[in-house]
Amino acid sequence: MENISDATKHFIDLRRHMWIAGIEVDLRRLIWQIAVTGKYISSKIQESNRKLAGLENIYGEEQLALDMSSDQIIKHQLEFSGFVSHYASEERDSIIQIGGGKGKYIVTADPLDGSSLVNTNLAIGTIIAIHRESILTGGDKSLVAAMYITYGPLITMIYSAGNGTHEFVLNREGEYVLSEENITLGERGDIYSIGGLRRDWTQGHLDYIRYLESEGYKLRYSGGFVPDINQILIKKGGIFTYPTLKSHPNGKLRLIFELQPMAFLMEQAGGMATDGRQRILSIQPKALDQRCPVYIGSKYEVEKAKAFLGD
Ligand code: AHG
Ligand code: MN
Ligand code: MN
Repeated sequence: MENISDATKHFIDLRRHMWIAGIEVDLRRLIWQIAVTGKYISSKIQESNRKLAGLENIYGEEQLALDMSSDQIIKHQLEFSGFVSHYASEERDSIIQIGGGKGKYIVTADPLDGSSLVNTNLAIGTIIAIHRESILTGGDKSLVAAMYITYGPLITMIYSAGNGTHEFVLNREGEYVLSEENITLGERGDIYSIGGLRRDWTQGHLDYIRYLESEGYKLRYSGGFVPDINQILIKKGGIFTYPTLKSHPNGKLRLIFELQPMAFLMEQAGGMATDGRQRILSIQPKALDQRCPVYIGSKYEVEKAKAFLGD
């Protein structure tokens, strides 16, 4: 029986995969360093979960909300990377300068997506985008890489630097090893993941959802954007939508922190992402916390949504 290190040498780990893909060295190192924060955030989730550690740590300090502590873990990691000039997070009101502000990249984070699900033991995640220029110039003009980490029964990480979309799993040795390369969606799938209250939907959206139901789509919605998107990628098709609501015309999800990175990953996997009319990655953000309706997944379902919404 090969010993563990021999057994894993046949695996492609994250750094080797990015090197083979010819990704620029600083970007490779940055992606890897961010992937490593997943281990720290995961242990924070374990430690902070009220079922395990109570509401205070052993020093009696007030436990920071997990969103905030995850945000701090990421920021500290970026400070020592040397590659990042600015950092923007869903947990902060403004973009902050990192170090001397001389790094090549700007990083955006939803440090903990689905934090309201922590005590239900459902999967949650971290969503990251890496930009070359100002994040307010618009998705595909500045976005060079995106990734997310899913904290579920396994810790998995999906990334793309424009070289396709790939999944890695954190193994017992703490390495991210390749589990699925070049994830490619089919033309259509058979699952739909739908947010918002039915009574708040517009008529066009309601008609679209009724069409999917008439086609026999199966409902798969956890309330966590990361696992809900992850299942569409891993099942190779389907649709996730958090639409315009009568009460919230811009929907709920955040363009910069959640939708742009997921749109990048989905397009690299042969899928699509739109706000119902235009491509998510073509939308010029006007504000850091801008929200946006979203239809994201395999082409057939996204195109159908545009037809029902009258593109
Ligand atoms: P976050 O925890 O980062 O605020 O994100 C929560 C989001 C997203 O994860 C999910 O798709 C959506 O909230 C679910 O909203 P509802 O609870 O309205 O379904
Ligand atoms: Mn979120
Ligand atoms: Mn969040």
